[in-house]
Order: sequence, then C-alpha cells, then structure tokens
Amino acid sequence: MSDLSLNENPWNAQSDPVLLAHAVGKRFEQGPLRVDVLDGVDLSLSVGQSLAIVGASGSGKSTLLHILGGLESATTGQVQLMGHDLSLQNTTQLGRLRNQHLGFVYQFHHLLPEFSAWENVAMPLWLRRADPLESRAKALVLLKRLGLESRAEHRPSELSGGERQRVAMARALVTQPACVLADEPTGNLDRATAKEVFNLMLEFTKSFNTSFIVVTHDHELARMCERTLYLKNGQLNTSQA
Ligand SMILES: Nc1ncnc2c1ncn2[C@@H]1O[C@H](COP(=O)(O)OP(=O)(O)OP(=O)(O)O)[C@@H](O)[C@H]1O
Ligand SMILES: [Mg+2]
Repeated sequence: MSDLSLNENPWNAQSDPVLLAHAVGKRFEQGPLRVDVLDGVDLSLSVGQSLAIVGASGSGKSTLLHILGGLESATTGQVQLMGHDLSLQNTTQLGRLRNQHLGFVYQFHHLLPEFSAWENVAMPLWLRRADPLESRAKALVLLKRLGLESRAEHRPSELSGGERQRVAMARALVTQPACVLADEPTGNLDRATAKEVFNLMLEFTKSFNTSFIVVTHDHELARMCERTLYLKNGQLNTSQA
C-alpha cells in the first residue's frame, strides 16, 4: 500500500468501500498476560450501507469499533478509511480523517455538560473552524429535524435519556460524515425509546447516504440494519454459529 497524502487519494465513491478491514488482529498485553481479542477480522462497508455487529459482552465489539474509527491501533492487519491506510497516518492526520469522515455515537452520549444542546451539536463544526453562524444554523436544522427544536438551549442535564441520545446523533451527523460508528447507542434507553431513536438514526444515515456501523448485543435492533455480522472468537461471521 503506497503512502498517500490526504490530498492524493484515488478513492472512488462509486465502487470503493468506505471502510475496509483486512486480517485485523488485536492483542492486549499486560506483563505476562496476553488477550487476543481480534484474530483476523475482515470487513468491507459500502457507501450508505447500514451494518450491525452483534456479539456477546467481552467479544471485542468496542475494541473493533475503536480500531475502525482510528481511536486505537490494530496489532496486525490493515484498516482503510476512504482509501487511507490508518496505520500510515500520524496523530494529526488521523484526527483530521476522523473529523472529516466519521461521526461517533456512544452508549452514554458523552455530551459536554457545560454546553447547550445546539452547542454540543455544533462542536465538530467548530473543530473544523467552520463559520460560527453557519455552524449554529446547521445544528439548529438538525435538532429541529430530530424534534428537539424547543430543547436547543437546554444543557444535557436538563434533557431526558432519549433526548440526549438524539442530540448525540445530531452531533455525529452534523458534518455529514461518510460513516457513523455507534457503540450500543441506545443501550441505556427503554425498549420503545431505543427503537424510536434507532429508527431515526437509520432514517438519517439513509437520507445523508452515510454508512452506519452499530455494535450491539440487541438482535432486534440489529435486524433493522441492512446487514448483520456476528463477532465471535475474534472473527466476524455472517451466521451466529
Ligand atoms: N486496554 C485493555 N487492556 C487489556 N484488555 C482489554 C483492554 N480493552 C479491552 N480489553 C479486553 O478485551 C476484551 C474485549 O473488550 P471490549 O470492550 O471490546 O468488549 P465488548 O464486546 O465491547 O463488550 P461489552 O458488550 O461488554 O461492551 C475484554 O476481554 C476486555 O477485558
Ligand atoms: Mg463494548
């Protein structure tokens, strides 16, 4: 794989995957202890596709999502985001790639408590040094589409769990990323709210043609995605066996 700079990337939106993982392995070592969490993960995610990764607790779902999102490095193998080999990027380049192409949603929203809903949503645009007024307008449009117009000035502590997760979704989507990576995004919500929030997320990623990976142990939510893969014994399979 050649060392491509961010400006000369032959990635082709018509034919190339947004994310590509090849033979990804991850080993955690602490003194004499070794844990091989991932052991040859292969994955190809196309533009606009929604994918659920299902696995038991401790199977390595979060680890895999962090590696796909460039938040953690793989021990072996290769991950490409929009044609960029993540292992060839320095910290600054990785940060830039993440900010340009990815959105993250976590189980516990990770909103900043001292900022209002709209400020939290606008944050990724501020990090890009986007125009402040334009950033505010974009944040407000998204919040409105998510039914949170009247909550825009509220801080996270003044919102319900479902509302916070919707704000977190808006924050992940505001830059119109190529791919959203979500780690149990509705894990701490009641059943009905979880389905509602998850549906919204699928609707939005579809309407933006954004690829979407969700890791979950919830089979019902997984079935709402176009594809499901199962993580077991460090590998991804198309069946649960
Ligand atoms: N930094 C680390 N050092 C050592 N071991 C780790 C580290 N991070 C994760 N692990 C181990 O890797 C395994 C997978 O962890 P991971 O968090 O990816 O699982 P998960 O599938 O997301 O689980 P859950 O559904 O409970 O969130 C676990 O056995 C965990 O103890
Ligand atoms: Mg996890």
